[in-house]
Amino acid sequence: MAPALLAPSVAPALLAPAAAATDTRRTAAAPTLGADPFTLGVASGDPAPDGFVLWTRLAPEPLAADGAGGMPSRRYQVAWEVAADPSFRRVVRRGQVSAGPESAHAVHVEVRGLVPGREYWYRFRTGSRGAAHVSGVGRAVTAPAPWALPRQLRMAFASCSNFPVGWFTAYRHLAEEQPDLILHLGDYQYEGAANPAHLRPHAGPETTTLAGYRQRLAQYRTDPDLQAAHAAAPWLVVWDDHEVDNNYAALVSERPAEQAVFAERRAAAYRAYYENMPLRRTSVPRGPGMQLFRRVSWGRLATFHMLDTRQYRSDQAQGDGWKTPGGGYDDPARSLPGLAQERWLLDGLRASGARWDVLGQQVFFGGRRNATGAATTVSMDSWDGYPASRQRISQGFVDARVRNPVVLTGDVHAHWASDLYLDYDEPTTPIGSEFVTTSITSGGDGYDDPTGTHPWMPDNPNIRFWTNLRGYVSTTIEPGAMRVDHRCVPVVTTPDAQAFTRRSYVVEDRVRGMQQVADAPLAAAAGLRARRALPSDEQVVADTIREETGY
Ligand SMILES: [Fe+2]
Repeated sequence: MAPALLAPSVAPALLAPAAAATDTRRTAAAPTLGADPFTLGVASGDPAPDGFVLWTRLAPEPLAADGAGGMPSRRYQVAWEVAADPSFRRVVRRGQVSAGPESAHAVHVEVRGLVPGREYWYRFRTGSRGAAHVSGVGRAVTAPAPWALPRQLRMAFASCSNFPVGWFTAYRHLAEEQPDLILHLGDYQYEGAANPAHLRPHAGPETTTLAGYRQRLAQYRTDPDLQAAHAAAPWLVVWDDHEVDNNYAALVSERPAEQAVFAERRAAAYRAYYENMPLRRTSVPRGPGMQLFRRVSWGRLATFHMLDTRQYRSDQAQGDGWKTPGGGYDDPARSLPGLAQERWLLDGLRASGARWDVLGQQVFFGGRRNATGAATTVSMDSWDGYPASRQRISQGFVDARVRNPVVLTGDVHAHWASDLYLDYDEPTTPIGSEFVTTSITSGGDGYDDPTGTHPWMPDNPNIRFWTNLRGYVSTTIEPGAMRVDHRCVPVVTTPDAQAFTRRSYVVEDRVRGMQQVADAPLAAAAGLRARRALPSDEQVVADTIREETGY
């Protein structure tokens, strides 16, 4: 496989003038770029059978406070090429695009005409002979042909990478696995202000402006581990709340005092998000709106239904937080994805002929209560806070006879696994399974209970696993089974931690419910030191709720 994916190369004369896809807008007068403009790395995304999106952004000074990345306010030509080998001996597509200040010199190329179901490598170049800069190399993969049933898909998913609180070591391990697809389920960045007490502070104030979001996303993209993860495989990204503002709902801001300017803030955040992600033109934002929910198929093996659970949701009931069920929270008119997206999802499930139908989404889908009886509280930000909406989708799995429904989730900064039911008060026959990835860093080092159980589990028999360590989830999807490995790092406050698989499950084709196939508590993982003594149950619950309601 390609070694040193991101090793920058000296500008060779490999990129011949474009044969196609040339953008002819004037660039002749733009001043030469002295410093390397490829400081943010490269990325690919949204694979189709005939191609994918390539992304980069020119930013010789990524932390510039005006968000412009140190680029002159002029247009620059950027050449791109796609090869069938990592040394670019067999270039199969090339072209040029023009990058301008209106998009913070972001580059999005929708490559077409490639062969289904194979690996490619890509890179960019800008500047003229003698002063040219060449980007690092990325690996991308096309989806299989629509009728193909591939033997295997290796896919990983991640969420919640809070830059100031830890090292992105988990992204590095994810990159080293060289999966063929990576799902990012939100909280790619956090909006909080610079705090000198943090391990590696954010640049700038809380992000509220276009310049601020551009600068913040550029700061994240300077991280070499994150760059390696982007360069390793195509990503399918969806956002959660922190790409804009903590726990916002549609056009309702977290803090009422900021409501008057929230639409403007969301527009700035969405625009910067599009600029910095490998998304197709169908996602170009229009004002405060952006089309993000979409479907990507991996032949007949899997269909990924990627949901946007922030932009259209009904406001959280009871003022958000962990609250006693009530206050109209179960009104059927309320929806978490919004009624239009619900219909789109249900239509897609009915039309799907995939072996595995996978929902890539943000917030906890299965039932999860903090106690039973009168003391019950649930998270009003999760699907528990929108029970009618959850019921419509769960019933949709059943009515559409979805062969193997699997929900993948982020948001809660811990690994969880839960089987799904139509009625969480009577969890007798599962209808599917949910796997929740922990954070890349959010929550800091955390801890691991050797039993893999949370104090809530006796009241939530659908829940099978929990650990409060950082990491990501690796999956191997085959026609006959889906294997899920909950990957962990023991610490994120020191760099270079090793990764290990904490718990593994298999879901078999047409068999409802997960089966545990491996378990390795931290203390037992070879070469890794045991963490400090586990906190009390009360402390674990307090930590869990704190992590989910704040940062
Ligand atoms: Fe988060």
